[in-house]
Amino acid sequence: MRTLVTVMASLNFHLTGIGPGASLPEQLRNRRLKLSLSLDRMAQRTRLSRATVVALESGGGSVASLLRLLAVIAPKAGRRAPERSYWGQGDKVDRDSRFTPSEFMQPIYEAFGQVDTDPCAHLLSPVVAHRRILLVDGGDGLVDDWSGRLAYVNPPFSRLLTWLRRAHQQWQAGHVETVVCLVPVRTDSAWFHETLSGDASIYLLRGRVRFLDARGKGQQTPFSLMLLTLGATAEQKARYAARVSGFWMTRRGAAERDRP
Ligand SMILES: C[S@@+](CC[C@H](N)C(=O)[O-])C[C@H]1O[C@@H](n2cnc3c(N)ncnc32)[C@H](O)[C@@H]1O
Repeated sequence: MRTLVTVMASLNFHLTGIGPGASLPEQLRNRRLKLSLSLDRMAQRTRLSRATVVALESGGGSVASLLRLLAVIAPKAGRRAPERSYWGQGDKVDRDSRFTPSEFMQPIYEAFGQVDTDPCAHLLSPVVAHRRILLVDGGDGLVDDWSGRLAYVNPPFSRLLTWLRRAHQQWQAGHVETVVCLVPVRTDSAWFHETLSGDASIYLLRGRVRFLDARGKGQQTPFSLMLLTLGATAEQKARYAARVSGFWMTRRGAAERDRP
């Protein structure tokens, strides 16, 4: 176990499906406590000795014992996908065709209302919008003006900044009242800091979103996501926070441009 724990730490290799903890021994202990098992009960359940359970929880013991323990208390344990800010290499070909699942859209409709424009829509996408700007119809969300009250934007992440600039410009021009974007937490550009962040509200989502691919198969993002809104009301934001895990960021000193 000691060697395994050291190697895991060096490779930034974490297991999911066990419980919280900075290291595997800590996760094992937290799992046992979550299951309300004493050391003796755990030993009985796993048919390991009490001393072995104690050893595993403090980073000792053998890997064979660890596997037996995991099989009983965390049979679904698996590798946590490493944090990345892009879809994997193998997904490059269709990495921009990831559709927002209906479960994610439901709280958006409930909190912000019906979507008037999806400027980067797709025929296979479950997003319901009065107007869908579709490349296959000759539309272009980077050229055609957006319209209506609410635009929902899950853009091609490979051109994230271009789409955020476009969203900001369309909102500033008054073509749409409110824009809600679902985007990776990528906040390093000067433009984000100097311009966008002063106008936008940002909701940091807890957990990841299972986007759908063209075959309707769910695939989790290997990176963190945020909801970035322009022109959202305090009421809309509160409704969203009441439905979805996460929090709205507050920017000290900067006046938010919420509508009253
Ligand atoms: C990440 S998908 C999102 C689809 C849909 N908005 C959703 O949330 O399910 C982005 C889509 O934008 C479309 N797209 C790319 N460039 C576009 C453009 N200039 N105008 C309109 N759509 C575009 C692509 O076809 C792709 O399917």
